Amino acid sequence: MAFPFSILPISAAFVLVLSSLFLSLGKSAPANGGVCYSQDLPNILAESFPNSATGVLNATLAIIPISLESARRLIPPQYRILEGAYRSLLPDFPEGMYPVMLQAAHDHDVQFRAYGITIEDFSRVGFEFPFLDFMGDGYSSFRWAPAQLISSTNDIALDGSRAYGTIVSPAEYEPLCDAYETLPNGATHFKGSSVNSAEFIELEMKRLPLNLSPYPMELFKNITNQPTFANGTTCDNMIRLFNTTMSTGEYAPRAVLGSVKARTNALFQGADKEWTEIYGVQIATPFIENNYLDCKTMQGYEGTGGPGDSFVPGGDNDDHEL
Ligand SMILES: *[C@@H]1O[C@H](CO)[C@@H](O)[C@H](O)[C@H]1NC(C)=O
Ligand SMILES: *[C@@H]1O[C@H](CO)[C@@H](O)[C@H](O)[C@H]1NC(C)=O
Ligand SMILES: *[C@@H]1O[C@H](CO)[C@@H](O)[C@H](O)[C@H]1NC(C)=O
Ligand SMILES: *[C@@H]1O[C@H](CO)[C@@H](O)[C@H](O)[C@H]1NC(C)=O
Repeated sequence: MAFPFSILPISAAFVLVLSSLFLSLGKSAPANGGVCYSQDLPNILAESFPNSATGVLNATLAIIPISLESARRLIPPQYRILEGAYRSLLPDFPEGMYPVMLQAAHDHDVQFRAYGITIEDFSRVGFEFPFLDFMGDGYSSFRWAPAQLISSTNDIALDGSRAYGTIVSPAEYEPLCDAYETLPNGATHFKGSSVNSAEFIELEMKRLPLNLSPYPMELFKNITNQPTFANGTTCDNMIRLFNTTMSTGEYAPRAVLGSVKARTNALFQGADKEWTEIYGVQIATPFIENNYLDCKTMQGYEGTGGPGDSFVPGGDNDDHEL
């Protein structure tokens, strides 16, 4: 079933929310006095999609297998788990298990070009639950992202996420302005710590050749392009492009293997959690984001579609070497 796709005119409400936040906050300087240079490449979509929110997400995406019983306890009971959908992408995924995705990302160069709006970079991390039957139709995969740690310095990001009904914890990050840092032992490290509670999520990952990952890129492409919801009132359509210059050649995705430590109130009631031998991928993708949509309009959404995934319906695909 085809999603009636056009780069949806962003809702006037969202622009208003953004503009009023800007007016009330002023363009706040980065907390560290303006010296926050990210290594991330610039947003390559702002020019082609001036009427949409666009940006760069440089991320570690890791799959934490949990038992279907645990998944059932954590996920609101009204949403069925579409096991057939993830098994079709991951035929060898262990029996009786469900893939939670941990997303640890740096949001960079977010713009709303036509309105002259730019948003200060921020980091965020949270557990996300893909392949959920939000519509109750038995086939449309939606992703539940109930809680996030988000940079405490970015009120627009904090409020923008809360508007979905997300449980948001303002947080500080190591590293401050990047998706991860490299430790002396060669592993990459990323940690978000709440500024007003003991919550944190921390990843330490070693890099592997891509062919040693048990998870195909198709899985990450599929999960990250599923419509996302928190309390279910509205949905986020984030279109992530996996096949641009930002994720090829020198910047090709890397498989990672490592551990995740977490203490979060929202899902795990403040208990200390640790998962080891967790596989994932590190990849930066440009994105186009359509916020606060009526979830029903995304029933049957098939992702970005188009050849090579660098094609965006409604985009000016011929003239721009992405
Ligand atoms: C993603 O972040 C890492 C760590 O800062 C950096 O080395 C890499 O160049 C970034 N990738 C892109 C495409 O911006
Ligand atoms: C979801 O959260 C939003 C933002 O806080 C709120 O306006 C809405 O009423 C909430 N909906 C439900 C069903 O809780
Ligand atoms: C994800 O994969 C499922 C199962 O193969 C497929 O039905 C669905 O269309 C894909 N969704 C996206 C957003 O790519
Ligand atoms: C990227 O796009 C090109 C051109 O459409 C295609 O040949 C290639 O297979 C794509 N690569 C991936 C990883 O999707």
